[in-house]
Amino acid sequence: MDVEVHEHDILIVGSGGAGLQAALTATQESEADVAVLTKLYPTRSHTCAAQGGIGAALGNEEEDSWEWHAYDTIKGSDYLGDQDRIELVCKKAPEAVIELEHLGVPFSRTEEGKIAQRRFGGHTRDFGEEPVRRSCYAADRTGHMILHTLHDQCLKHGINFYTEYHVTKLIHEDGEVKGVVAYDLSDGTLHVFKSKATMFATGGFGQVFSVTSNAVTSTGDGYAMALDAGIPLEDMEFVQFHPTGLRRLGILMSEAARGEGGILRNDNGDRFMEEYAPSVKDLAPRDMVSQAIYTEVNEGRGINGDDYVHLDLTHLGEEKIQSKLPDIAHFAETYLGVDPVEEGVPVQPTCHYSMGGIPTDVHGRVVHDAEENWTKRFFAAGEAACVSLHGANRLGTNALVELVVMGRQTGQAMADFVDEDVDAYPEIDDVHAEEESQRLEEFRERDGSETVAELREKLQNEMMENVGVYRTDEKMSSAVDTIEELEERYEHVGIDDSGEHFNYDLMDALELGNLIKTAKSVAVGALERTESRGAHSRPDYEERNDEEWLKHTLAYLEDGEIELDYKSVNITKHEPKERTY
Ligand code: FUM
Repeated sequence: MDVEVHEHDILIVGSGGAGLQAALTATQESEADVAVLTKLYPTRSHTCAAQGGIGAALGNEEEDSWEWHAYDTIKGSDYLGDQDRIELVCKKAPEAVIELEHLGVPFSRTEEGKIAQRRFGGHTRDFGEEPVRRSCYAADRTGHMILHTLHDQCLKHGINFYTEYHVTKLIHEDGEVKGVVAYDLSDGTLHVFKSKATMFATGGFGQVFSVTSNAVTSTGDGYAMALDAGIPLEDMEFVQFHPTGLRRLGILMSEAARGEGGILRNDNGDRFMEEYAPSVKDLAPRDMVSQAIYTEVNEGRGINGDDYVHLDLTHLGEEKIQSKLPDIAHFAETYLGVDPVEEGVPVQPTCHYSMGGIPTDVHGRVVHDAEENWTKRFFAAGEAACVSLHGANRLGTNALVELVVMGRQTGQAMADFVDEDVDAYPEIDDVHAEEESQRLEEFRERDGSETVAELREKLQNEMMENVGVYRTDEKMSSAVDTIEELEERYEHVGIDDSGEHFNYDLMDALELGNLIKTAKSVAVGALERTESRGAHSRPDYEERNDEEWLKHTLAYLEDGEIELDYKSVNITKHEPKERTY
């Protein structure tokens, strides 16, 4: 087996917003040699699907303050977010957005030429008084614009890219991360990357569910590799369902549609959010709106008694829809043949975002226990990470904020670390590449009795049905049983393509393994949490239970089983209160 060995001071896995922002900051702040490894072409990373905006208290359209942003984020998180981290991110958000503007992001503008801002769910003025315009946007293509701008900047700064390299293993030995093993999708060759600092910015795992707004590439790779390496995952039971995915397809209909005045209506034509959140109505946080849609459907008020409601934009008029929401209008027309100028768009909740992930501190350093001890040389940011900004429910626009603020923090921390603390590359034993080579070869050669497609579909349907918006003991126990059955069947998965070049069969099989492992951490953590909080809603435990459950979950993989531990929540100013809107 020929294995090529590469060395880079800083190695970043993942080329979405967090990875590229960290790469750029590290390059600007140090002499470090930075490389980005990605299984995609960088501009295809899932950040490009973020539509409605990035939240920052710029106050361009009306008075705002970062303290209000922090309060909204804490309340939105159902008090599970770590308040010190929330404060830091909200305080740094305005300067991060201005930096993006200076890098060239083409934000929409106010009449005076300032960055335009609009309303989004859960964002208010004056500690909950009324909705505020806080989301900075580029029509409904904000993530796309940020990603492309960051990519241009990384190219300008000469950052190394290894595109279409799929990382298969995180090398973690003697309490530190030393690098990764990856294979080059274009020719099937195996590569070892040694680094002084390794960062995971590997994105989410929406493909665990059958209806999702996530790209097909969001397969939980980083989470699964962290688990395999003995690193825990934090708060994985909190999975966000965005209220407005295109029916059945899950494609995102941005919350910006409601920020611009769109209304959700049931079969009677009623604006049902008036019942559930009388003060902010359609602009309640996502957990509440998704749960409200399920309740409408379960009580027979879905459109035609079916499993969806309407997103009504007809009163906004063609000009506003085309200038502020052009992409989603196009998606509704293309995929469902519905013109939002003329009629309601059929929508239902779609799996959108993982609040949990690889635990980090505010410098993006990965921590591996309840005392927050650092796994040396290892960093993470973005959706794959959990700095605990979102707690039990993320507010819309806070994912893009997290990408840039935590991308900057992590890039800076890695730059400082390689400049000050280390001069030598870690030694990596050949055994890691040998084992990975053998594992990949086995897949190629195995005459399996199981197919990737069948197992993936079973997993996705099970998770959607039983670990979705509403969860009970019975449903989640069934999901855990199914996952265990799928783990066994996965051992017999075969692939048709035994070739070396662009072997997507092999990639799908590896990704399926990652989906199963990640799903298990979600289902086991969820089953154990006997309360309702944020996106974790249990009819069998309807109340939030701060006495027993105001704590973060840490899920470890030990001998194939998920073992749970817990750590405390950092509270600074806002004691948990009842969450009403
Ligand atoms: O609805 C949206 O545009 C999504 C934004 C987000 O998830 O932050």
